[in-house]
Amino acid sequence: MPSRPSSGTACPDRPLSVAVIGAGYWGPNLARNFHASPDWTLAAICDLDTDRAARLAQGVGQVPVTSSVASLLQDPGLDAVAIATPARTHHALATAALAAGKNVLVEKPLADSLAGGEEMVRLAGSSGLVLMADHTYCYTPAVLKIRDLIAQGELGEILFIDSVRINLGLIQPDVDVFWDLAPHDLSILDFVLPGGLRPVRVSAHGSDPLGAGTACVGHLVIELEAGAMAHIHVNWLSPTKIRQLVIGGSRRTLVWDDLNPQQRLSIYDRGVNLARTAGLEERSQSQVSYRLGDTWSPALPEHEALAAMVTEFAASIRAGRPALTSGSAGVRVLAVLEAATLSQASGSSVPLRPTLELESAS
Ligand SMILES: NC(=O)c1ccc[n+]([C@@H]2O[C@H](COP(=O)([O-])OP(=O)(O)OC[C@H]3O[C@@H](n4cnc5c(N)ncnc54)[C@H](O)[C@@H]3O)[C@@H](O)[C@H]2O)c1
Repeated sequence: MPSRPSSGTACPDRPLSVAVIGAGYWGPNLARNFHASPDWTLAAICDLDTDRAARLAQGVGQVPVTSSVASLLQDPGLDAVAIATPARTHHALATAALAAGKNVLVEKPLADSLAGGEEMVRLAGSSGLVLMADHTYCYTPAVLKIRDLIAQGELGEILFIDSVRINLGLIQPDVDVFWDLAPHDLSILDFVLPGGLRPVRVSAHGSDPLGAGTACVGHLVIELEAGAMAHIHVNWLSPTKIRQLVIGGSRRTLVWDDLNPQQRLSIYDRGVNLARTAGLEERSQSQVSYRLGDTWSPALPEHEALAAMVTEFAASIRAGRPALTSGSAGVRVLAVLEAATLSQASGSSVPLRPTLELESAS
C-alpha cells in the first residue's frame, strides 16, 4: 500500500525522513549531509552490498541498513529517498519510489535515457511529489554567483561558452565520458542561463584512442537559441586536471576556475566591440575596437554545496514546489546527452526537439 504522497500541507515542520539508496562512492556524501541537516532525519541506508551499507551507517548515527528497496518503500513514515546508484538503475528505482508515494532525489544523470527521465517527471507531477536532480555544482557559491551576475545583466548578451572538464578519470563500465562528466557542465548551463538550457542543435565528437570500448575523450558543441555557441570538452585521459568555464558576454567575460580557491571567479571588462556603419553590411566595413578594462574577482561565501542541496530538497517538499534543480532540469540535460549519442552515431549534428517542460509551456 503506497504511503500518502507528501505535499506542502502534508509535511509539518518536523524533520523529514529520508533513506539513501547506494553506499558506493557518492552515497556517503549524501548520507553525511542528510545526517547533519536539521531539516532531515536519516532513516536508513540501502545497498545491495549490506556490508558496505553497514560501514556507512556507522558514521551517520548507526541507522538501520537493508538491501531491499521494496521493504524500504513500505515504510509509511519515510518521506523521501535519495538515489545514488549507477545511472542505469535510476529509472526503475525512482519510479518504484514515486509509485510508493515518496519524494525522490536522484543523482546525475537523472536517467539513462530521455524517455525514462520524462516518464519520471510525469509520474512525479501526477502524484504531487517532488522529483529533484542532484545537480550538485548548482549549489556551489561560485555557480550561484554566476547565475546572479548573468541575471543582473553584468555580462550582457551571451556570446560564447567554453567549458573544460578534464582529468585522469575512472573509465566507467556503463556510460561514456559524455554521460559521466558532461551532466555537470550541462546542468550548470541550465542553471545559469536565463530560461534554462535551450539548445537548437547539438554535435558531438567522441574518441576512444585506447580501445576501451567507449568514448573517453569528448567534444560537444551546442548551438544556443540566441546564436551563441557552447563548447564542452570532457576527458578521462588527461594527466592534468582542469575545471574551467568561460562565459563570454557583450559587456564582460566571466572565467570560473574551480581549482583556484583564491580566485575562483574572475570578471574581465575586456572584449570586442563591433559597430556597424549604417547602410554598410560588409564585415570589412564594420568598426572593430577592443575594450581593455579592469579584471575583478567577486567575494564568495563558504558553504558546502551538498548541504545547500539537501536544504533545498526539504524546502521544495514543504512548499509543494519544484526544486531549483527539478526533474525537468534533469530532463533538459538528458535531451542534450541523448542528442550527443545520436550525433556520434550519425556523424552529423542533431536538432533538439522540445523537452517535456517546453512542450507543456507552449
Ligand atoms: N553529484 C556528483 O557530483 C556525483 C559525483 C559522483 C557520482 N555521482 C553519481 O552518483 C551515482 C552513483 O555513483 P557512484 O560513483 O557512487 O557509484 P558506485 O558504483 O561507487 O556505487 C553505487 C552503489 O549502488 C549500489 N547499488 C546498485 N544497484 C542498487 C540497487 N538496485 N539497490 C541498492 N543499491 C544498489 C551498489 O552496490 C554500489 O554500492 C551515479 O549516478 C553517479 O553519476 C554524482
